[in-house]
Amino acid sequence: MNHMILIGFMGSGKSTVGRRLAKEAGLPFVDSDDLIEAQAHMKISDIFSEYGESYFRDLETLTLRQLIESEERMVIAVGGGLPMRPENREYLKQLGSVIYLSAKPETLQQRLSGDTSRPILQGGNLMEKIVTLMAERAAIYEQAADIKVITDHKRHKEIVEEIKQYV
Ligand code: S3P
Repeated sequence: MNHMILIGFMGSGKSTVGRRLAKEAGLPFVDSDDLIEAQAHMKISDIFSEYGESYFRDLETLTLRQLIESEERMVIAVGGGLPMRPENREYLKQLGSVIYLSAKPETLQQRLSGDTSRPILQGGNLMEKIVTLMAERAAIYEQAADIKVITDHKRHKEIVEEIKQYV
């Protein structure tokens, strides 16, 4: 199935850009975090606090397996940590074109400051967390993606146009 899948760090704009891209392409939009919350009847932050991160990561893998069964073409945004599991990267490949929305730590810091919905960013210094996680993740995002779009200083409209040129 040739879905369009958006990956990238928290705050890279996957959901907003994904929604807009889907609307323009006349396709449904889904977000892996929303699917997980709907199926668990719990917020992501509660899943983390009650069952722990690795349980949440298992739910992400399950969600990808469900998406692979879908016969309708979609735009899919996935959680920022999902591509870290090698198994998940295999599923992403099977799902379609993988688009990496990249952003500099400074841009992410601006977009994420004050956010309380993302458990792995809570407590401590936000910039340090972003830099540490990006050091672990950036190369993996690059490896998992077919296309990389730099989002710093770009409007959502521009980012959508850029994606449309490739897919
Ligand atoms: C996470 C990103 C979040 C969500 C969870 C963990 C991560 O999704 O899945 O809070 O590890 O980067 P978004 O990237 O949509 O914020």
